[in-house]
Amino acid sequence: MRIRSPEWLWSASRSLHSRGFVRIAWLVKVFNFLCHRTLLPAEAIVGARVLLEHYAFGIVMHPNVTIGDDCQIYHHVTIAGSMNINSAERVCIGNRVSIGTHTVIIAPPHLGLSIGDDVVIGAGAVVTGDVPDRAVVVGVPAKIIRFRSDEEIQDPYGWSLTHTRRRTVKDDSSKAIHDPLISKNSPE
Ligand SMILES: CC(C)(COP(=O)(O)OP(=O)(O)OC[C@H]1O[C@@H](n2cnc3c(N)ncnc32)[C@H](O)[C@@H]1OP(=O)(O)O)[C@@H](O)C(=O)NCCC(=O)NCCS
Repeated sequence: MRIRSPEWLWSASRSLHSRGFVRIAWLVKVFNFLCHRTLLPAEAIVGARVLLEHYAFGIVMHPNVTIGDDCQIYHHVTIAGSMNINSAERVCIGNRVSIGTHTVIIAPPHLGLSIGDDVVIGAGAVVTGDVPDRAVVVGVPAKIIRFRSDEEIQDPYGWSLTHTRRRTVKDDSSKAIHDPLISKNSPE
């Protein structure tokens, strides 16, 4: 089992910040950076069971970020915006969103941005606008390639896989090694 140390430190800094211990919250944020090389704002609003994969390595976020429940964020993700800290504009990420490695989410100048529930953002995407529920987006700038089905969303592990759909692998080379019939008929 992995120790969720960046998540724990982030939660502690948010909790301290919300109770008015701003300097201690900042120190915890700096400690998290020194331990994990991640910049996670104490001002962010974050739901339950958010996973920061690979010890949150390289994740950088603007303070005006809201993240829903059960989201998964891979390493080297940037969530940025040019809004003033604590202004009404926020980058809002829904529930059960998976954000692939090296994604950049950047809100338009002085505006917020909204990402729906059950969204998957492919590795290396640059998201510059709102994303509707269930969309799978990839590329620079990110475009919708499809919408996720009910079946995929009900699959408790489907959203966290590198590929959101199961693929049929047609390569028979492993079968050739392990299939006893093939082994019996093969020349000595
Ligand atoms: C987007 C993703 C979830 C796959 O979704 P999917 O619906 O299964 O998409 P497919 O693999 O069927 O690909 C559909 C098309 O999108 C393209 N595509 C897939 N992922 C892409 C990406 N990250 N960037 C650009 N294009 C991508 C595929 O090449 C394919 O193009 P084609 O139709 O021209 O052949 C997956 O590729 C991904 O990027 N996951 C991120 C996970 C991650 O960061 N893991 C880090 C582990 S360390």
